[in-house]
Amino acid sequence: MKKRSVFLVALLVLAIVGGTVFAGGQQDAGADSPKVVGFSQCDSQQAWRWAETESVQGEAAVRGYELKYNDAQAVQANQIAAVRSFIAQGVDGIILAPQVMTGFGPVLQEAKDAGIPVVLVDRLVAEDEDMYYTFIGSDFVWEGERMAEIVVEETGGKARIAELQGTPGADPTIDRKKGFENIINDYPDMNIVLSQTGDFNRTKGKEVMEAFLKAEGENIDVVYCHNDDMAIGAIQAIKEYGKDPGKDILVYSIDGIKDAFQAMVDGDLNAVVECTPLLGPQAYDALEAAWAGEVLPKWVMSEDGIFLQKDAASIIDSRKY
Ligand code: AHR
Repeated sequence: MKKRSVFLVALLVLAIVGGTVFAGGQQDAGADSPKVVGFSQCDSQQAWRWAETESVQGEAAVRGYELKYNDAQAVQANQIAAVRSFIAQGVDGIILAPQVMTGFGPVLQEAKDAGIPVVLVDRLVAEDEDMYYTFIGSDFVWEGERMAEIVVEETGGKARIAELQGTPGADPTIDRKKGFENIINDYPDMNIVLSQTGDFNRTKGKEVMEAFLKAEGENIDVVYCHNDDMAIGAIQAIKEYGKDPGKDILVYSIDGIKDAFQAMVDGDLNAVVECTPLLGPQAYDALEAAWAGEVLPKWVMSEDGIFLQKDAASIIDSRKY
């Protein structure tokens, strides 16, 4: 056989092998092979995120999908690498809980070029909305506004507020701050006197609250926490400082995890605005709509509730996470 013919045969073999690999992936899966979904979770150091991960994993099992899971451990570069790996493996769909709003453009473009729908859960990105299929999550401005209204009500519109912010650059951090300020800006005696990130993390929330107390312990009336985990850390710091959380310093937070309900029952936490992490079923509904060629709104908004300390004891047993 001439050199040129050998080369052509080799090319043909490569094409067949390549085609077989491709057929086993996302484009041409047999009717019986389960759909494969990649889930990129930004972090796993918070109770809220465990609940979200369980929801996404549990629903994959219910629907018979194969789930590839990656925990980015709060490092955006890990998350981008995970999404890239899902694309390379030819998954049928990607569920992405982004760490921050910016920086996902190139990898979202790669998913789009590969024809893989991306459903964003719980946090939005700043990219153009053509870059993802839909976003499923809460209205964080609404959460911040409702929280501020409760604080105004419970303090008579007069409070020196310490704020524990979430991860810098994350959608809920930006919008919970904005929503809270939308309301308190109408009250001249409601002032944020200290504000710093606790990274949505219980340990860091405690550390930042300790620093706040060391600096201004006698001048804080209220702690507004962008999530429950930081509130639990702050409560611990307040106790160790020798004050009574929930009374000497009022504590408010967002999420609605069971630990927060227990803290309300114990009188340590004053109120919670909910942010549901149980997004698995809606995420797969969205992917199924994408696979069926349907068009969904770019934001499928979650419904959240408001919980006051006085109602916590009667509700705690019904909390799922
Ligand atoms: O994006 C949702 C927020 O992020 C939750 O409030 C929080 O606990 C999480 O890390």
